[in-house]
Amino acid sequence: MDSTAAACWEGNAETWTRHARAGYDLYRDALNTPVFFANLPPISGLRGLDIGCGEGGNTRKLAESGAKMTAVDIAPTFIRHACEAEVEKPLGIIYRQGDGAALPFPDESFDFATAFMSLMDMPHQDRALAEAARVLKPGGFLQFSILHPCFAPPYRKVLREEDGTIRAIEVGRYFDGVDGEIETWRFGAAPAEVKASAQPFRVPRFHRTLSEWVALIVAAGLSIEHMGEPRVDAATAEAQPYLADTHIAPLFLHIRARKPG
Ligand SMILES: C[S@@+](CC[C@H](N)C(=O)[O-])C[C@H]1O[C@@H](n2cnc3c(N)ncnc32)[C@H](O)[C@@H]1O
Repeated sequence: MDSTAAACWEGNAETWTRHARAGYDLYRDALNTPVFFANLPPISGLRGLDIGCGEGGNTRKLAESGAKMTAVDIAPTFIRHACEAEVEKPLGIIYRQGDGAALPFPDESFDFATAFMSLMDMPHQDRALAEAARVLKPGGFLQFSILHPCFAPPYRKVLREEDGTIRAIEVGRYFDGVDGEIETWRFGAAPAEVKASAQPFRVPRFHRTLSEWVALIVAAGLSIEHMGEPRVDAATAEAQPYLADTHIAPLFLHIRARKPG
């Protein structure tokens, strides 16, 4: 399972990087990342680790906020693209290829860690959370975003009125122990011709219920201190129909958890 998941991400990395940098990861850029940063404690001057950094877009934002960043991702192609961006515009970020479930860093190396939409993609979330806790200094925090376990389980369908407005979100398979089921999709905000010319991403799902996530965080020795459910307001939902489903029910869950001081 681990090697299949890693291979899927390596296979996604080239197109994902190109499309994310073209602005097609609209949920990330217009909603998820801005809310994540709005709820981030001050990080200027702190040593941070970004786990599952992808092409490094969010890592660069953390560095631009003044943190001394290190970042890790399972897919070598993501790391290559992230390193190329660092060469082009140096921000002092150190990128390493590696597994979130076996971080290549000594204990207590970082003041904080982030994981933007990556922990739910990892086969061993228990180990990934334990590893994040291990590399945090006492009193350090881990802030992460995941697909919302309750409103984005393996089945989620947007139900619309005849005029196209969204009536409800239908969800299912919440209690299914999904471990590595591969979903295929493209960034919905990409133009039709771009979507047609690209292979879909292959994304292995490792779905956990909300209570399972809480149990995993507690088992890693971390204390939850913040939870958030980003959404657009009514005006934005009208102006940006692509994001409007999040006005009805959240797509993402944000959690900040702290290692005891
Ligand atoms: C949805 S992408 C998010 C990328 C990036 N954080 C962002 O916000 O643009 C998930 C990322 O997690 C990475 N990933 C998946 N499994 C991993 C693992 N076991 N260890 C480290 N990174 C992993 C993938 O390669 C991918 O870059």
